Amino acid sequence: MNTSTNTATSVMTDAFPINGTDYIEFYVGNAKQSALYYQAAFGYRLIAYRGPETGSRDMVSYVLQQGKIRLVLSAALNPEHEIAKHVAEHGDGVKTLALWVNNAAESYKIALDRGAESAFEPTTLSDDNGTIKMAGIKTYGNTVHALVERSNYDGAFMPGFEARTSAYPVDDIGLKYVDHCVGNVELGDMNKWVKFYQDVLGFKLLITFDDKDISTKYTALMSKVVSNGNGYIKFPINEPAQGLKKSQIEEYLDFYKGAGVQHIAVATDNIIETVSKLRSKGVDFLYVPEVYYDTVLDRVGEIEEDIEELKKLNILIDRDEEGYLLQIFTKPVQDRPTVFYEIIQRNGAQSFGKGNFKALFEAIEREQELRGTL
Ligand code: FE2
Repeated sequence: MNTSTNTATSVMTDAFPINGTDYIEFYVGNAKQSALYYQAAFGYRLIAYRGPETGSRDMVSYVLQQGKIRLVLSAALNPEHEIAKHVAEHGDGVKTLALWVNNAAESYKIALDRGAESAFEPTTLSDDNGTIKMAGIKTYGNTVHALVERSNYDGAFMPGFEARTSAYPVDDIGLKYVDHCVGNVELGDMNKWVKFYQDVLGFKLLITFDDKDISTKYTALMSKVVSNGNGYIKFPINEPAQGLKKSQIEEYLDFYKGAGVQHIAVATDNIIETVSKLRSKGVDFLYVPEVYYDTVLDRVGEIEEDIEELKKLNILIDRDEEGYLLQIFTKPVQDRPTVFYEIIQRNGAQSFGKGNFKALFEAIEREQELRGTL
C-alpha cells in the first residue's frame, strides 16, 4: 500500500460542530519560566494568569496568545498535585487539546454515547465577564480534549483567571493559528485511535502514509491523518514501524513514557520573516543539508519565494495538486526529546509535506545519533 488521500468531502459527518482549537495546555515544571520562553523566543503575549493571588492555591497557569493561538502553561505548587505527577512521568508536555464547541454538555454527552471516556464532567464557570461551560474526554496516553463553550464570555480567558500583561517587549513573529496537532501512539495503536476519532467525533480519514512513504535506511513510521468536517481540526496519528534502528516515534515513546502530542504545527503567512525572527531569538531548528536545495525546484516547480532565502533559513518546500507549502521543524522545546513545533506556510497545498519526509527523518536521525538513541 502507498499513500492514499481521501479528497475532503462536503458531507459532514461530525458528531457535533467544532469551530477550532480553543487552547493547548502544557503541564510544565516551571510555568513562570516557560511563559517567558514563549514570549521571548516565540513572540506570544501574556494575556491571563491564575495562581495563589487569584485564589488558585495548588497550581498556577499563564495564558499566552498570538493570532488565534492560545497556550496555557500550568505548573503544580505541591508534589501531590496531578500536574506534578504528570510532569514527573512525562516531562513538560501537552495535557489538553481544547476544542471550541457550541454546546459543551451536549457535545460531551454525544461523545460519551459514541464511546468516549470521560476526563471531567460538564462544569459551568462564571465571573463578572460571563460564563464558560466545559467538559472533557480522554484521548491517547494521558492527553485530554476539553470541550469549551464560550458563547457568553468576554473576559481575558475564562473564569478563575485574571487579565495579566507583561512588561516584556514582545515581538509578534506572525503565528496565526494551529494548523494541526500530531499524536505519537504505541506500535499497533494507530488504527485504534483513528477509529476513536471516526467513531466518537465523526472525523474523516484524510490521508494514510505507510512505511514506504515514511522511511529512511534505518527507521520508519506509519501515519494517518483524521480531520473534522470544516478541516479546522486535523490530527495526524503516528505509530512506529519496523526499521533497522530505533525510530523517532519509539524514542519519543521512551522519553515521554507513552503516547502523547509529538508536534504542534502553527501557521504563518510569511515563513521567511517568522523563521528569521525565531532564529534570531535562539530557536533551534532541524538541519537539512544544502544538497536538498539543488533539486527541490525540479520537484516542486515554481514558487514565489526566493530559493536562496529559503536555503539560508533551511525551510523545506513541497507541492500537491492544490498548491505548495513551506515548512520547518524546531528541535524539541523541552529537555526530553519529545514535543516540538512545525512552522508552516500554505500556498494552496492542503497536505503535510510528504516530499520532505525523507530529508526530515534523516535530519531527526542525526539528532538521535547525537543523543545516543538511534
Ligand atoms: Fe506536521
